[in-house]
Amino acid sequence: MNPDRERILGQLGLGPTWRLRTPPAIEHVPVAAPVAATVVEADRDRHGGLAIPESESPGDWDQLATTVRDCRACGLCAARKQAVLGVGDRHADWLFVGEGPGAEEDQRGEPFVGQAGKLLDNMLAAIGLRRGEDVYIANAVKCRPLENRTPEPAEIDACRPYLEQQIGLIRPRLIVALGRPAAQALLKTEVKIAAARGRLHDYQGIPLVITYHPAYLLRNLMDKAKAWEDLCFMRRSMRQLKGG
Ligand code: URA
Repeated sequence: MNPDRERILGQLGLGPTWRLRTPPAIEHVPVAAPVAATVVEADRDRHGGLAIPESESPGDWDQLATTVRDCRACGLCAARKQAVLGVGDRHADWLFVGEGPGAEEDQRGEPFVGQAGKLLDNMLAAIGLRRGEDVYIANAVKCRPLENRTPEPAEIDACRPYLEQQIGLIRPRLIVALGRPAAQALLKTEVKIAAARGRLHDYQGIPLVITYHPAYLLRNLMDKAKAWEDLCFMRRSMRQLKGG
């Protein structure tokens, strides 16, 4: 491997551990105060029904898992070994949303278990998080798009109710959209990562941060500094949401 690439991959956490250094630049990242304030308010009652009213009860996990397992709402079901619902703490404060399962995820039934998953785990570690501990990981689509292609808008639309139901069940304090398809699935609008990162968005009263997809970072190593900023920003946002 090219020594530069090896060094950078090491820094990204695919070699030695990726350690958190808080860059001073993060202090300048704008925060959309009204959204943060709204959500801090809502957060106090997040298990009491404020964020998701009782009248929109999201059903339960068993029903969701069965529905997703048997889903035939779009063409992705034809090539899947299995649908990949998600993994982690069902009462997590943090929800990370990726694009869709790849070949390894389809085989193992768990999101982010390949190379991008290793990087995601290292990104989580960099802000003191671990898969499954106060973290839930899901995808915009639950079935593997062949050849790792980006899911079509119609496929994302077909799968959106499942993601919405997951969010209703988890009620995270903060949602992190990993990449453009995830951000667009959640916000239902066109998103450009470069313009959308570094501030809080709003998903039905829950603050949402947009950052690069780990697979993109593996291909575009020069954007790792921005990913660092985003990690620091989300960590700081969570602290604020918890009132600290
Ligand atoms: N990329 C994703 O977006 N999700 C996965 O589960 C794996 C890779």
